[in-house]
Amino acid sequence: MVERMRRSLPMAGLTRGKRSPVTCQFKCANACSRPVCNDSPNEYFRDIVSAGFSRRRLLGAGAVGAMAVTLAACGSSGAAPAGSLGSAAAGTGSAGGSGGAAGPLAFSPISPVDKSVDAFTVPGGYDWRPILRWGDPLFADSPEFDLHTQSAKAQARQFGYNNDYLEILRTKDGRKALLYCNHEYVNPDLMFPDTGGPSQAERHAIAKAAHGGSVVELERASADEPWAYVRGGKLNRRITADTEFELTGAAAGTDLMKTADDPSGRRVRGMIGNCAGGTTPWGTILSGEENFDGYFRAAGTCPEEKRYGLDSEETSNGWEKTDRRFDARQDGFRNEPNRFGYIVEIDPNDPASTPVKHTALGRMKHEGATVALARNGKTVAYMGDDERFDYLYKFVSKRKHREGDRAHNKTLLTEGDLYAARFQGDSDPTQIDGSGKLPSDGTFDGSGTWLPLIKNGKSAVPGMSVEQVLVFTRMAADKAGATKMDRCEDVEPHPKTGRVYVACTNNTKRGTDGKPGADEANPRHENRDGHVVEIEEAGGDATAGKFRWNLLLVCGDPATNDATYFGGYPADKVSAISCPDNLAFDRSGNLWISTDGAPGTIGYNDGLFRVSLDGDRRGLVEQFLAVPREAETCGPLIHEEEGNVFVAVQHPGEDGSFAEPHSLFPDYVTGAPKPGQVAAPRPSVVQVFRTA
Ligand code: FEO
Ligand code: CA
Ligand code: CA
Repeated sequence: MVERMRRSLPMAGLTRGKRSPVTCQFKCANACSRPVCNDSPNEYFRDIVSAGFSRRRLLGAGAVGAMAVTLAACGSSGAAPAGSLGSAAAGTGSAGGSGGAAGPLAFSPISPVDKSVDAFTVPGGYDWRPILRWGDPLFADSPEFDLHTQSAKAQARQFGYNNDYLEILRTKDGRKALLYCNHEYVNPDLMFPDTGGPSQAERHAIAKAAHGGSVVELERASADEPWAYVRGGKLNRRITADTEFELTGAAAGTDLMKTADDPSGRRVRGMIGNCAGGTTPWGTILSGEENFDGYFRAAGTCPEEKRYGLDSEETSNGWEKTDRRFDARQDGFRNEPNRFGYIVEIDPNDPASTPVKHTALGRMKHEGATVALARNGKTVAYMGDDERFDYLYKFVSKRKHREGDRAHNKTLLTEGDLYAARFQGDSDPTQIDGSGKLPSDGTFDGSGTWLPLIKNGKSAVPGMSVEQVLVFTRMAADKAGATKMDRCEDVEPHPKTGRVYVACTNNTKRGTDGKPGADEANPRHENRDGHVVEIEEAGGDATAGKFRWNLLLVCGDPATNDATYFGGYPADKVSAISCPDNLAFDRSGNLWISTDGAPGTIGYNDGLFRVSLDGDRRGLVEQFLAVPREAETCGPLIHEEEGNVFVAVQHPGEDGSFAEPHSLFPDYVTGAPKPGQVAAPRPSVVQVFRTA
């Protein structure tokens, strides 16, 4: 008998300030209903002397030139031309909060959209269309999508579910491009009928085939035309929860990685929970395995399992019932969860390549990783662990980048130093009272230290071996004394200034019973709306051991919430913003932020926002678009010079059901569906383009 996919929802009525209980169920295995994973006694330290910093650029000319690989990377990948700090936000005028900056992406901010609205909303003078939708056939032999006859074989040849990180790499003539997109998780309630339909085993196989990532060729007649995907493109590829990966780094091949299916400890099937990501200067894709714990049923008894949220409950996906490797209670498979939770690297130019999981970047609920090249040529990856009270990390490669040597550069993330961040505030701690009220110096700010976990190939954590640090990285950072953060999501170095931006999406447990209270880097108790940290590495050197920081934004709806801050910009002149998640930059140097959770906090659909970073407009937040009902805005990508913005719309209509959908995005079928029409929400990659 087919299991009924709609189960009780542990987070129903408990999703304070955040998302739908259905999203909790399938995306993060109800993480908020479980004990906080980090109950280590690690406290916030204030005893580090502030390090000086200078306003010098991080990226050298070599880094920008390195973008000219087979396909030229743009947008968040850092392909923007180099400039000096202070030249960011070129073309922006005086403060005002209406009309937006001049240039190809001029727009007037949209009004916030009520959470009941099932529409994709863009500013005047713009239109949108989907480029790729769940189920779109990617190969010449792919079956057409049919909601009612879906199979695992078909899904493995079609665009996957719940798209997240997005990159579009264009050819020099601008006629062709290569799209990469993650498929983070699935919602069986919307994919399958309550009764009938595929068997349980086939549902699980379909779900695995809908996970992973897609590489898809795009084409257009000219830069004035929207992109269209190329069915049968020779670089098209699906990566799924069954694709073979190679483990790299010092933990690969160790006893911690060996299973009955893989006695070598070097080969893993599949990537799961892939959320955000980044594009390397050598043109490969990095992607973070995030909520992997929710896919495994484990004993849940040892500290290592508890620290990663692994427990003995039946999982929401239920794969352990039909695939023994997801039942980590069994002999031979206890280490299987140790093989997930990594940064993966995928070469989109080589569909035959084996993607890799880099143990050198540690194991956690990796939101993603973004890379900068330091002045000395070393590769620096910034990473967030998206869990309440977990940490911010940095990796510095042992070897240096070599321009044009792709084979060498693809080894850079296999070996290097690994750090976790400690933040110190510079204000009197008694002034940080958890209310969000600014301290007397006018800013939440201070200094920071990168605490070594791995240094020069050796463990820097007493009592832990190198492989233990890399596989149980959270425990290493506990011992090192890292600062417990409010869920670090995307972490992105600015391509011009090198300043690093960290989206802390929320943490409603901060300051509650028995939990850590406010500190200057996480200054609000029961932090519902999140904040954005701005970091400047000491001496502008991405490999530095010290940094300065400040909170650029303390988010919320300033109309109803006094405990907000917008870089000093007048709060009554900005768009309301809550739960920052993914980050991107435009060519002018503005920061763009997409959100996940605004319907549950400020009552509006999630959206995409432009934030000015410099001059009189610093802190000005302007809403560009809103996604449909119950959806999350993911993967923002800004091609400012062409007037194009791209987002991945994830989990539209998440709270609906197969029989009663809450959204019909993006097809908006009315009445009885015609042949080829689908009366269900479809996670989709969307292009927004100018019409005037
Ligand atoms: Fe998948 Fe942390 O968002
Ligand atoms: Ca301060
Ligand atoms: Ca995310």
